[in-house]
Amino acid sequence: MPFQVKFKGEKVIPVEAGQTVLQASLAAGIPHYHACGGKGQCTTCRILVLEGQEQLTPPTTSERAIRNVKKFPDNVRLACQSYITGDGVEVQRLIRDEADRYIFLNGGEENMTRVMGERRKLALFFIDIRNFTPFIEAHLPFDVIHIMRRVFALFRNAISQYGGEIIDTAGDGLYAVFGLKSGIRKAAEAAVLAGLKILEDIKIFNNTYMRPYFNHTFELGIGVHVGKVIVGNVGIGLSDNLTVMGYPVNVAARLQAATKELNNSFVISDRAFRLLKNPPYSAGCAHLTLKGVSNPYEVKLIGKPYAFSKAAPPPSVT
Ligand code: FES
Repeated sequence: MPFQVKFKGEKVIPVEAGQTVLQASLAAGIPHYHACGGKGQCTTCRILVLEGQEQLTPPTTSERAIRNVKKFPDNVRLACQSYITGDGVEVQRLIRDEADRYIFLNGGEENMTRVMGERRKLALFFIDIRNFTPFIEAHLPFDVIHIMRRVFALFRNAISQYGGEIIDTAGDGLYAVFGLKSGIRKAAEAAVLAGLKILEDIKIFNNTYMRPYFNHTFELGIGVHVGKVIVGNVGIGLSDNLTVMGYPVNVAARLQAATKELNNSFVISDRAFRLLKNPPYSAGCAHLTLKGVSNPYEVKLIGKPYAFSKAAPPPSVT
């Protein structure tokens, strides 16, 4: 009596004893890629096991070797090396056409988990320079880019010091995540520490560089939230173009934007705040309205009120 295996979006097929999943799918007329002919060398037959992983035989020696090199997650198997020992298995072919073949074989093989996407709990960190536009309007392009590089270097150093990863930059702000290699409590703590360090560093930069050379100082706005998001590499040509998506990302961006209306440089969601081990901050409390959320959203204010500098007119350029 053969076992039944469901190929998601395709059909349910019988798998006879002694038949690999690849042999069974080909026999059932599924156009299953198998470039090396089922020798466990090419990986084009790979499947994602959605249900019943325990009903597959353990990886063979050649599958283990290739899995170690390509860093497959546990639920990715080679169909040509897998046998079935019971019912209730559901799988999905990962390479179904030439475009899939390109993505999986040429785009980001070094980290299959990121290629395939995963749901993770992360701390989401948005930062923006509050008063950059007046600086842009008053200075030469060279100065603007140079200062931008200095300030972004300061952001980058603090974020990487605390284990964060920058996901994207937009204009005079950026977006980073914490927790790709740690639990959510550590991630929240790290995001807050990185933010506080940046606020401290920008104060020094203002006093030692911006004020003396440009008669201008910068204020920042930081928003931090935690939540479950989808992490993956959309593979647009960069080697590790990580994308993070989900509603918590929008919330974190909203908190950053709210620094202005709340007149505080660092706004953190109550949910993130409650994860901090010893919050050494005299936090103020406020409530925000979030799109699509009926109840006011509680946030903590752990930065400082703004003191926007009255910059003197810039030196004239001749
Ligand atoms: S067909 Fe090549 S590894 Fe399975």
